[in-house]
Amino acid sequence: MNSERVFSGIQPSGEIHIGNYLGAVKRWVELCDDHDAIYCVVDDHAITVEYDPSRLPAMTFDASLATMACGLDPEKCTIFVQSHVPEHTELTWLFNTVTPLGSLFRMTQFKDKARNALQRKLTRKEGGAMKTAIHNLKTLGGEALEGLDELKKDLDSLDPDTRDDVAIGETVARMNDRMGNIMQRLQVGLGVAEASTALFGYPVLQAADILLYKATLVPVGEDQEQHLELCREVAQRFNKKFGEVFPVARRIKSEAPRILGLDGKSKMSKSLGNHIGMLDSTEEITAKLKNAYTDPQRIRRSDPGRPEICNVFSIHGFFTEPDVRDELAQGCRKGTIGCFDCKKVLAQSMDAELAPIRDRADHLRRHKGLVIDALDAGRQRCSDIASQTMEEVREVMGVGHGVFAGLGK
Ligand code: TRP
Repeated sequence: MNSERVFSGIQPSGEIHIGNYLGAVKRWVELCDDHDAIYCVVDDHAITVEYDPSRLPAMTFDASLATMACGLDPEKCTIFVQSHVPEHTELTWLFNTVTPLGSLFRMTQFKDKARNALQRKLTRKEGGAMKTAIHNLKTLGGEALEGLDELKKDLDSLDPDTRDDVAIGETVARMNDRMGNIMQRLQVGLGVAEASTALFGYPVLQAADILLYKATLVPVGEDQEQHLELCREVAQRFNKKFGEVFPVARRIKSEAPRILGLDGKSKMSKSLGNHIGMLDSTEEITAKLKNAYTDPQRIRRSDPGRPEICNVFSIHGFFTEPDVRDELAQGCRKGTIGCFDCKKVLAQSMDAELAPIRDRADHLRRHKGLVIDALDAGRQRCSDIASQTMEEVREVMGVGHGVFAGLGK
């Protein structure tokens, strides 16, 4: 076995779709052959946004089941649930001490999620909420602008040649207050004031996930590159301050960097409803593909199409044999094969890959113990590794009950 350790995580926030599968899980399965692979269902990450605690256990279970149905074999890799190994959260706290706020503020996923939550609030139609929200936003924005004017005056009044330390001190203190007030208002406008601290710290928890096991390879989609950069920054800052403890992890790219949804516009995602679920039935797949976006210039069947810009054709690339694909492309260009037929072929080739996965999922659902036992074995193995790493970390940081050993009695 290759000595390099692979670690990756998946959120239990709903069904796994073909975007998750092609972008990540399929690669996870391949990596089991020659790596020490650890895969985690990240429930501690899922609770950083609004969620229903009564439904979370079933969702965590379903996500675990789905990864096994997709081909993760607990004999060949380690599968576990994040919150079952509490060291993840302990290490997160310790990592918080070496994580600059500025690095977290740059994270685009945090900004996106915060903005989306604000937008949902703004567009909620009931009870004039929208009116109030817009009124508040305008007031805040106005106050921030006034603050900027005042700030400018203070800045202009700062004279580098003056000898009056007291006056400078007062101006600087006033500026600092103004900047704080402006920032508070901007935070509300960005939606980040209402976001949870846990959502802000999400990437630190992700760094802890990876580094708790000293993993060096992380198979995730390109949308996670920024989080991995943060993971590297945390490891480097930690090592610099406390000594070489952590390796530097890098992303393993998948063959499918970006899977567009059936709307052909945004990344495939469950929340946008533009996805095909890994466990969708033959009928559901067919029905969803029927409405999928194709070459917009192709209105009639006889119109010559452009497979190279057609999203349905690009999905064929992952499921359909090359010779069949070539035939479809030719027929599309000549206007002899219509989108309807092309989608029918895609439904068939997708179904061929998904049917065995569905069968495995059915089997696991009838034998839940298989999933529960796999997760339990995973928890035990991960707990062992985690407790070793934490002993090392606590010692170099000078915390934990072991630290008095050196003091004598
Ligand atoms: N943030 C990742 C995602 O949304 C999930 C994740 C959590 C993860 N912890 C991880 C991925 C550790 C890789 C390694 O896809």
